[in-house]
Amino acid sequence: MSSWSLDDIPWDAFDLGRVDADSLKIAKAAALTESNGRLYGQYLSRVFHDEPTVLEAIGQWAEEEVRHGEALGRWAEMADPTFDYAEVLARFRAGYTIDVAVDISVRGSKTSEMVARCIVEAGTSSFYSALKDRAEEPVFKEICRRVAADEFRHYKLFLDTLNILLEREGTGVIRRLLVALGRIRETEDDELPFAYHCANHADRPYIRAEAYREYSARVFANYQRHHAQRVANMILKAAGLSPQGRIGDLAGNVMWFFMRGKAKSLAV
Ligand SMILES: [Fe+2]
Ligand SMILES: [Fe+2]
Repeated sequence: MSSWSLDDIPWDAFDLGRVDADSLKIAKAAALTESNGRLYGQYLSRVFHDEPTVLEAIGQWAEEEVRHGEALGRWAEMADPTFDYAEVLARFRAGYTIDVAVDISVRGSKTSEMVARCIVEAGTSSFYSALKDRAEEPVFKEICRRVAADEFRHYKLFLDTLNILLEREGTGVIRRLLVALGRIRETEDDELPFAYHCANHADRPYIRAEAYREYSARVFANYQRHHAQRVANMILKAAGLSPQGRIGDLAGNVMWFFMRGKAKSLAV
């Protein structure tokens, strides 16, 4: 269980001269999407309403996601005094929400839901690891280090839950792979581009393709080969495939090729 709070961040070490402008834009958007943890927590509480152990873990998980948003939001306010986290968050929430009034997972089953959650955490853990490895501003580096560690732990939590559920539901590899690939594709949906837009360009009309391009170009530029391999391994495990050997090597190469391709084709 994670035990850090905003008071554990060494805010006094903040160094404005070492803030990277691209990372700041991404961090502002991430501060908004992390705050959706509470909504996703409500959604997952409906899906797992009859699983007391999972429910308890989801409550803790949602609080940690919200705290990630608060830490990033506070840092972004220090890096850019014109950025008002509460105000921008209100704008984001007014324009983007998710349907929490469900009785079953939108993915069809509890195991499919857990596969999707693993994919999200695989993505966020690599995202913050890449930001941390690139960061020079010490406070941002420390926030990304702590957040990335939480995201890896969240992945482990959901993978363990998935493996318990699989003993009951027995979802096959093909179905799990399809859910995983479907969830990866959803990163092009509105949530991330709209957050980027609200955080950085609220004065302009919202054009999803444009916001997605600006956001993704900055994100993909951060990744290194080892980030690609790690996220590929995590996705394979969630789909029920071993990341050892040739499948793991192939998946790592494909992921790295995909990331480099995105970084080049979307370059701003
Ligand atoms: Fe998070
Ligand atoms: Fe997470």
